[in-house]
Amino acid sequence: MHCSCLSGGGFFVEGECIVGDQSSTYRILIVDDEPDLRNIYKRFLEIEGYSCLTAGDGEEAMSILGRMDISLMITDINMPGMSGIDLLREAVNQYPDVAVLMVSAIDDRKIAVQSLQLGAFSYMIKPVSRNELVINVVNGLRRRFLEIAHRRQSEKLEDLVQRRTRKLLEAKQELVVASEETVLRLAKAAEFRDDETAQHTLRMSHYCRIIARGCGFDAKRCELIRLASQLHDVGKIGIPDAILLKPGKLTADEFTLMKEHARFGFRILSDSRATLLQVGALIARGHHEKYDGSGYPDGVAGEDIPIEARIAAIADVFDALTSKRVYKDALPITAAIDILRKGRGQHFDPGLLDIFLADMEAVNRIRKQFQDSGHQPGIKSVLPQ
Ligand SMILES: [Fe+2]
Ligand SMILES: [Fe+2]
Repeated sequence: MHCSCLSGGGFFVEGECIVGDQSSTYRILIVDDEPDLRNIYKRFLEIEGYSCLTAGDGEEAMSILGRMDISLMITDINMPGMSGIDLLREAVNQYPDVAVLMVSAIDDRKIAVQSLQLGAFSYMIKPVSRNELVINVVNGLRRRFLEIAHRRQSEKLEDLVQRRTRKLLEAKQELVVASEETVLRLAKAAEFRDDETAQHTLRMSHYCRIIARGCGFDAKRCELIRLASQLHDVGKIGIPDAILLKPGKLTADEFTLMKEHARFGFRILSDSRATLLQVGALIARGHHEKYDGSGYPDGVAGEDIPIEARIAAIADVFDALTSKRVYKDALPITAAIDILRKGRGQHFDPGLLDIFLADMEAVNRIRKQFQDSGHQPGIKSVLPQ
């Protein structure tokens, strides 16, 4: 918006006229060590309706800027004590909404350029005529208005971008939580059907992360493996109760069918586009494979078994050995470690096993954090099937 006035037009920011008709609402600070000049400038500007204050040096000017609402400052350059350039530097730094005009007795291009670069709006050479002064003040106030408006607009935009980014992050976080929880609940659905507990799933998943971390994987991949490992037995959903819940030893045929849970898990998860479920599929299929090729369902060996599945195999067996079931007590850690060591290079990837056994401190922390509680319906063998 725009209004006409003696001083060349008024401008509004959010309904407030900041240049023009209401020039008396703009306080101008005149800084010069010569009292006569201060008073001349003051008189010229008061005729135009501006309200003026004066200061004899830079220190006094800074003190006034700190106490009063000043729109524009006109300052001499050569003053005893704080120079006009120093005053400009300080004022621009501490009070960016104040327009600063420089006045100098010396026509020095270098100082003029330096002043403008430091943020002065104009550079006038003494003697300054009334017209020159008023024109520069009107111009300075107009430019101040534009800069303040631009700054406010930028702040608004920045605020808007920040709010939108925050909302997006929140939505993304919600999605992440939802997908992680879906994975855990899917794992729980499988656990409901046999003796494994949610605590087993949580513990073994954290053991997986310990090994992944020891492999030097980045935090994102470690967390991916931890989450995906929770799905290792999801295929048990497809095993009939008569086999899954059979209290005694399984017959050879029953065991053959039981072993299918690895493939079932793979089939449930493998055609997903989500990386989490793709890794879950690899773990579901490969967590009963053995390093020497004597495992199931595919009998693959060594590095043909995906590393995520080789990691899960160690974590799964260790937790089964060290957990209490109704048909067995938990083995002491040392006994479980002995069993794992015996399987080094046969059942388990030797390098990954070494990594796991090297960080028993972290393993114990997980055991404490996710202790079993209450009754667990138990069945069958000590080792995971
Ligand atoms: Fe399994
Ligand atoms: Fe398990």
